[in-house]
Amino acid sequence: MSSENEIILSTSGLTKNFGGLVAVSDISIDIERGSVKAIIGPNGSGKTTFFNLITGTFPPTTGKIFFEGRDITRYSMYQRTRAGISRSYQITNIFPYQTTFENIRLAVQGCSGAKVNFFGILKKASTFDNFHEKVIDIATIVGLDPARLYVPAALIPHAEQRKLEIAMALATEPKLLLLDEPAAGMSIEEIPEVIDSILRVKESYGDQLTLLVVEHKMDIVMKLSEEIIVLSEGKIIAKGPPKEIQQNEQVLTAYLGGTDEELA
Ligand SMILES: Nc1ncnc2c1ncn2[C@@H]1O[C@H](COP(=O)(O)OP(=O)(O)OP(=O)(O)O)[C@@H](O)[C@H]1O
Ligand SMILES: [Mg+2]
Repeated sequence: MSSENEIILSTSGLTKNFGGLVAVSDISIDIERGSVKAIIGPNGSGKTTFFNLITGTFPPTTGKIFFEGRDITRYSMYQRTRAGISRSYQITNIFPYQTTFENIRLAVQGCSGAKVNFFGILKKASTFDNFHEKVIDIATIVGLDPARLYVPAALIPHAEQRKLEIAMALATEPKLLLLDEPAAGMSIEEIPEVIDSILRVKESYGDQLTLLVVEHKMDIVMKLSEEIIVLSEGKIIAKGPPKEIQQNEQVLTAYLGGTDEELA
């Protein structure tokens, strides 16, 4: 947990309507710098939409978003990345035919403003060295298998692919990282590997990094987060330490009838 209670991200009355559907409804929340929080909620409760609003995929219908005290509500996605917000996606978002290394390098390079020439060769060898070192650093932090760094990303195991996505999200040197279901589609045996990876990332960056993780699987949430935010029908219905949330009646009711049995 952060030593100070400085707020890095704050939303005020954040709302997103899709036609008549209110996907995110009047969310006002403060996130402390350096904290790790999980967002849970039944399918369609607005978790990904909330992330999309923070990262600027689309503007909110109403409400505001503040990052480090600045109103970023009208910032483009690019401006938000520059400000220090990054994310991974619920659905795998890697270049399958590029190697693991190349995927990270492209992400690092993409945010550095470096120029490549017509043949895709970087103009300065020294710049290449910097990229190389940074890619290896990030790969090590997320725990990617060094033996698989030069294999096309499509051919590495699913858990490694999810770690690769976290690595790519880290390439922009974010202060706030949003992970949307980092263990989606993973087998039970693969899950601890991804949890370890996220814990290692958090440990490496300490209070420099704030983490928001959307996750359904309660065992992951329990291991990762200090606080859980529960969404239902676009609204925050509960917020608190994992142990408390697990026994919260309103939360259990929101999950009843759904496909999620993790809370039971
Ligand atoms: N771009 C969009 N256009 C129209 N409706 C959308 C759009 N994105 C999301 N929705 C709707 O908004 C609601 C919230 O969706 P969202 O994807 O945020 O939920 P979620 O909590 O992430 O669900 P899941 O657990 O299934 O990933 C859903 O009813 C969804 O169909
Ligand atoms: Mg989602």
